[in-house]
Amino acid sequence: MIRTVQVTRYVTPLREGGSLPAIAEADDGFLYALKFRGAGQGSKALIAELLGGEIARILGFRVPEIVFAELDEAFGRTEPDEEIQDLLRASTGLNLALHYLSGAITFDPVVNKIDADLASRIVWLDCLLTNVDRTVRNTNMLMWHKELWLIDHGASLYFHHNWDNWQEQAVKPFVQVKDHVLLPWAARLEDAESELKVKLTDSVIQRITEQVPDEWLNNKEGVLPADAKKVYAQFLEMRIAASGVFVKEAQDARKRII
Ligand SMILES: Nc1ncnc2c1ncn2[C@@H]1O[C@H](COP(=O)(O)OP(=O)(O)OP(=O)(O)O)[C@@H](O)[C@H]1O
Ligand SMILES: [Mg+2]
Repeated sequence: MIRTVQVTRYVTPLREGGSLPAIAEADDGFLYALKFRGAGQGSKALIAELLGGEIARILGFRVPEIVFAELDEAFGRTEPDEEIQDLLRASTGLNLALHYLSGAITFDPVVNKIDADLASRIVWLDCLLTNVDRTVRNTNMLMWHKELWLIDHGASLYFHHNWDNWQEQAVKPFVQVKDHVLLPWAARLEDAESELKVKLTDSVIQRITEQVPDEWLNNKEGVLPADAKKVYAQFLEMRIAASGVFVKEAQDARKRII
């Protein structure tokens, strides 16, 4: 179950992030990396963050705890920065936050060694999620207490920006895997596939997709929240069933670079 917290304090912007995330404090006393529904990609980025993060967690990766973060309407009225005030105003209601890993540093493949098993499992995950945000320039992985943590799945599942042909997109290879920061180390993709695929049964996928808040699904396409959740579940189920397609693409892309 995903917890819900109340945001009590905007601490500071996370300057690196393209979606204007911030460090914020909540009523449970913890600090969070807060992702706003009012930011550029709107609630779709939060849906991708939630589904991507929770799938990664089920697969055994380290992912900071994800919570729903409620922003009060009055929150931020005293915020002096106008841009931040606008963002807070546009984000009233449920947002998403990740437990803040204080003191974590960005994973750098030159500095941080990674074994073929872990690299292969992460590449497999990102091919499944169609996550374009795990590149050399922006690894979206953190080292914290000498362990690797995955963050930022907000750019995953990009099919949802264009619902029309989702069945077709579900079974497509993920050609952007060629830019994945860990592809050179991902020598054990088939092992990763047989290890991970079995964990993602239809009931696991349904349990995860059901957690998407209805208020994030009130989109312009005129799809009802319950139907949209079914599309996310079916997209993922079809993609898992057809995973051989993206594994092959990743192996081919890897042969071209090593
Ligand atoms: N849970 C966390 N703990 C510690 N630091 C974090 C956490 N989440 C994010 N950060 C830091 O904030 C930065 C921006 O966060 P994140 O990557 O989630 O935002 P984004 O707007 O989606 O970024 P991008 O520019 O990659 O699209 C990260 O690169 C990382 O340095
Ligand atoms: Mg990022």
